[in-house]
Amino acid sequence: MDVSAGESVAVVGPSGSGKTTFLALLGGLLQPLAGRIHLETPHGTVNRTAAHVSWVLQTVNVLSDRSVLDNVALGAFSDGLDRTTANDHAVRAIDRVGLGEMSSWPVRTLSGGEAQRAAIARAVISERPVLLADEPTGQLDEHTSRHVVDTLLRSAEDKITVIVTHDNSVAARCSRVVRLSGRRLS
Ligand SMILES: Nc1ncnc2c1ncn2[C@@H]1O[C@H](COP(=O)(O)OP(=O)(O)O)[C@@H](O)[C@H]1O
Ligand SMILES: [Mg+2]
Repeated sequence: MDVSAGESVAVVGPSGSGKTTFLALLGGLLQPLAGRIHLETPHGTVNRTAAHVSWVLQTVNVLSDRSVLDNVALGAFSDGLDRTTANDHAVRAIDRVGLGEMSSWPVRTLSGGEAQRAAIARAVISERPVLLADEPTGQLDEHTSRHVVDTLLRSAEDKITVIVTHDNSVAARCSRVVRLSGRRLS
């Protein structure tokens, strides 16, 4: 599969078909036994992609005792943005995913879907060139899902975005849909 910056790719397929494994390969969390995964950046070609990827994992990974704002700002801050700019970006992304009122709350007090939205806000403000999301709307109602996908796709304008989804309405909004089944992408 070849993907260019600005493309958003939906990966669909039955449970157990390997969608999460495929993302883990793209993101450098697993190494392929065969084949090659590489990323062309303005600075050259890289084979180890992990440092270039922001994730929205299926198992939402957050610092549960820290606030929503801290969690969202932390990604950008640890990538080298100054604290004020990281916070500014975080505040805007938190608003866009509808968590504005909960910004100062510890993430452990949020519902699963709200924590998932915090993870999405963190990923969209990342300046890393690749965004990989595993079922990012799996815990969201239809209305919230639409908003969150708006936010994800807006950030996709200058990134490579790959979204695993079971939701046809999410897949339909991506610029491309690939199906994983029988160990083949089509
Ligand atoms: N680390 C692993 N080692 C070996 N097999 C795995 C591993 N992770 C997942 N699998 C297997 O690979 C298949 C695809 O899993 P997964 O990628 O999680 O599917 P999906 O996300 O499409 O539901 C499953 O049969 C699963 O049991
Ligand atoms: Mg999966």
